[in-house]
Amino acid sequence: MDLAEALRRRRMVRHYTGAAVAPDDVERIVAAGLSGPSAGWAQGVSVVTVTEPKRLAAIATACGEDDWVARGFDAWLSTAGAHLVICLEPEVYRSRYAAADKDPTVLERVPWWWVDGGAALMAMLLAAVDAGLAAGFHGGHAADPIRPILGIPDGVVVLGIVTVGHAAPDRRSGSLAAGPRSGRIHREHW
Ligand SMILES: Cc1cc2nc3c(=O)[nH]c(=O)nc-3n(C[C@H](O)[C@H](O)[C@H](O)COP(=O)(O)O)c2cc1C
Repeated sequence: MDLAEALRRRRMVRHYTGAAVAPDDVERIVAAGLSGPSAGWAQGVSVVTVTEPKRLAAIATACGEDDWVARGFDAWLSTAGAHLVICLEPEVYRSRYAAADKDPTVLERVPWWWVDGGAALMAMLLAAVDAGLAAGFHGGHAADPIRPILGIPDGVVVLGIVTVGHAAPDRRSGSLAAGPRSGRIHREHW
């Protein structure tokens, strides 16, 4: 699949058939995520891969899936074949930017770990499409309860969970009702 087609096909899918994702596909998607650029080549992004059905179910419960299903939404996390949890280590960036060739105050203006994490997220979403699968993103703001399930240490930030699976009929995000925002390209001058 060429890049233009992968970009066109990508969308957040929040409901899957429950079928497993092949281990090779998981590996390829994670490798794509970790192949991205990294500020100062700090490489402070890592991924926890989860494919065991019991652990997938525990994460879904911890994230409150029962509540959102009761409110009429699709079962999302529990139907995925894999959860790829994107983790960020700010200390790795602080240590790299304390080196003689870097300026640590840069991180006050832009904490680069969020940028590297976003690049990893997009690469993983596209790699899932390329593998003929569907993917979604469950933001880390709601993912703190998964930390003990996965043994994620203090100091490691959970950016969120990339859910990967075989697409089932789903409901698009209500946010899309806003339609495209115009005026986001500024040619030659803002
Ligand atoms: C940084 C970020 C955080 C997001 N967090 C969530 C989330 O927690 N739950 C959710 O259902 N969708 C989440 N989304 C998905 C957006 O709602 C979705 O990308 C947007 O509505 C556009 O839809 P599309 O990606 O299918 O084109 C997130 C997307 C991004 C980029």
